[in-house]
Amino acid sequence: MSGGAIIATAAADRGTPPRPTGPSAAAPGTIPDGGPNGAPLEHAGRVAAAYLASADPLPAGAVHDIGDGDFRAIGAEFLRHFVTLGGLAPGDDVLDIGCGFGRMALPLARFLAPQARYLGFDIVPEPVEWCRTHVAPLHPGFGFEHLDLRHPLYNPAGSLPADAGFLGRIPAPLGWRPSFVAAVSVFTHLESAAMTRLLAEARAVLRPGGRVFLTAFLTGDGTPPADAATRFPAAAWCREGPLLALQGAPATAAVGVPWDWLGEVMAGVGLRPERVAFGHWRGAGELGGPFGGALGGAAGDRPFQDVVVAR
Ligand SMILES: C[S@@+](CC[C@H](N)C(=O)[O-])C[C@H]1O[C@@H](n2cnc3c(N)ncnc32)[C@H](O)[C@@H]1O
Repeated sequence: MSGGAIIATAAADRGTPPRPTGPSAAAPGTIPDGGPNGAPLEHAGRVAAAYLASADPLPAGAVHDIGDGDFRAIGAEFLRHFVTLGGLAPGDDVLDIGCGFGRMALPLARFLAPQARYLGFDIVPEPVEWCRTHVAPLHPGFGFEHLDLRHPLYNPAGSLPADAGFLGRIPAPLGWRPSFVAAVSVFTHLESAAMTRLLAEARAVLRPGGRVFLTAFLTGDGTPPADAATRFPAAAWCREGPLLALQGAPATAAVGVPWDWLGEVMAGVGLRPERVAFGHWRGAGELGGPFGGALGGAAGDRPFQDVVVAR
């Protein structure tokens, strides 16, 4: 990604960057009524199949706690979730918070239009370097940045407080506003102050009409269920400030987010949750809604973690 300017501070500059044109460009910022836009979904299906069969780069081994053998399958799966739940279209510009080893970036490099931009950042340098070497060359609009935030597990010696945020710290093209902010398997590993800051900054940087797509272990209202057949039953969790933690696990190894707390934080920063898909981590059942009537579950093709889409 070219340009030395930083993602501008807060919402002062909401300039809209030039949009891609041409047949592959789709209007960003809309989730069509009645479900996903068919054209991006078909495109995502083709891209996912091609990606799974491809010789695209693969990080070696079970690195950095991002999953190993399922690396490609999960990336392809999430491309479909981005489209069906988040309304991602090829013309979107994507900010990927906690990009890791490019598990999302690799299929996105095939899905996004040539004119689209993607910026991924992470608090650990090695995956960022790996992505710069192996993923950035696959798409002209892709860039990766390291941000040295402290984190009890991933970056204990980081030079910046966990909740220091990314605005003003990450190089990006001048005035760039992503229309899609993704945080996959990141809010499952954060302390509450870092969550609040990331949500506020995601909202601040988001282009009007854009969406935030995050995954979480949503808790509350009888969930996680006591049902021992679920992977993380209620008895496995304990309260940790406003959040939940897996008992006996290292801090932030797995974090549960009470949905009333998340709803309040989102409201406080000006984000409106508009779609929730319950993941199969919680077992079989659909549950009562964390955000009033704003639910739209993903039948059939469910992710493992819960997905929240907000705008
Ligand atoms: C489980 S991994 C998921 C990586 C990637 N999103 C994926 O799905 O493959 C969690 C990632 O979040 C990163 N991370 C943790 N806290 C972060 C923060 N405050 N900002 C950005 N990234 C963070 C970690 O370094 C790690 O790469």
